[in-house]
Amino acid sequence: MTIINAYNPAHEAHLARRERDMVARRQKLLGPAYRLFYANPVHVVRGEGVWLYDPEGNAYLDVYNNVACAGHCHPHVVAALAKQASMLNTHTRYLHEAILDYAERLLRYFPAEIAHVMFTCTGSEANDLALRVAKTHTGGTGIIVTDFAYHGVTEITAGMSPSLGSAMTLGENVCTVPAPDGYRCQGQNIGAVFAQRVRDAIGNMHARGIKPAALLVDTIFSSDGVFTAPQGFLAEAVDAIHEAGGLFIVDEVQPGFGRTGDRMWGFQRHGVVPDLVTMGKPMGNGHPIAGMAARPEVLARFGQSLRYFNTFGGNPVSAAVGMAVLDVLENEKLQDNARMIGEYLRAGLESLARCYPVIGDIRSAGLFVGVELVHDRKSMEPAGNKAARVVNGLRERRVLISAAGPSANILKIRPPLVFSKANADLFLTALDETLAEVSPP
Ligand SMILES: Cc1ncc(COP(=O)(O)O)c(C=O)c1O
Repeated sequence: MTIINAYNPAHEAHLARRERDMVARRQKLLGPAYRLFYANPVHVVRGEGVWLYDPEGNAYLDVYNNVACAGHCHPHVVAALAKQASMLNTHTRYLHEAILDYAERLLRYFPAEIAHVMFTCTGSEANDLALRVAKTHTGGTGIIVTDFAYHGVTEITAGMSPSLGSAMTLGENVCTVPAPDGYRCQGQNIGAVFAQRVRDAIGNMHARGIKPAALLVDTIFSSDGVFTAPQGFLAEAVDAIHEAGGLFIVDEVQPGFGRTGDRMWGFQRHGVVPDLVTMGKPMGNGHPIAGMAARPEVLARFGQSLRYFNTFGGNPVSAAVGMAVLDVLENEKLQDNARMIGEYLRAGLESLARCYPVIGDIRSAGLFVGVELVHDRKSMEPAGNKAARVVNGLRERRVLISAAGPSANILKIRPPLVFSKANADLFLTALDETLAEVSPP
């Protein structure tokens, strides 16, 4: 059974009175579908930089939240939000310069082929829109996603999110393929292996009379388990979907905005130009702004036949926030920081791996890191139970990470991009102590 990072009501007796009451209120008010992180849930009231604070003022090192890329409550972003909110907030049916200035600036980060951008409030909406555009452009309906992908909460995107569990019925024409897991395909050309899986899925669709519309991937394969190497492994699969008349859609909701260190977008690590790009999370450093960038020729038919209006997507406050996030990314050189601190963190993890055989593999790009825990390096049997203990052990040391992958055995390490060397040292020391407890060498 997969041991996910979630609060287990069986632990209720261990909670402090205030938190136990809050958990009960959540259950009563929000109903049964929500989940809390950690066996002992974290109650936070304030954030600053890489730190989250509980009501007593205890600081938690945030090594997980990719949304707050510029650091929690960055003053420049907060000031931009407050300034625009005190002047005007409307929608995209009026002329306003903020959305134009922001669109112009954002598009400069893309290859020239991608020249339009549309705005939404969430990554789910952006993926939903991309799928509608792909279906309209190609006339197809078949979508290929990876085995443990996550792409959102709407009917169409949840139907492409097998990581929601076996109770989630996938969309009718959705085909899944195993993610490009280089760890378990050692010695093989992972690009060729993945492309063959995509070709097989296309063949399967044709056999069922389904025309392919798109291959949709998260370019860092975060929920599948973080697959980062070798750079370029996606290129052959992109050719495969194009040859079949489908589009290549990249979900940059997690890797986008400089996190991978070497590039602004995850797809750039693969030397490919996608047809549609979706983005969200870090785009507003916590404010709900998301979007879809597109090749104009791919968007043309959709735009001619349908109108697009999203009440809140691209409003002037969101545009001002998006602009301020780009200011911080540039002024504080956060992509470079992600690369440098990412390398430092990786070296520290590699040295821990020399002590702890439970670490089977380390995969990373900048400040997006997956550390796979296994019971045995030869059998590579996933150690989900140990990963859960490490995640909770770190939480007790006030250091926050989570776990990913079908067996939840891959430590997911994804701090705000303002993470420093000193922060990395703190994290590595806490991880060392926790591993010594959970899986002594
Ligand atoms: C890869 C990926 N795509 C899409 C989404 C959906 O984004 P949102 O929660 O903003 O709707 C998520 C959210 O976790 C995600 O991780």
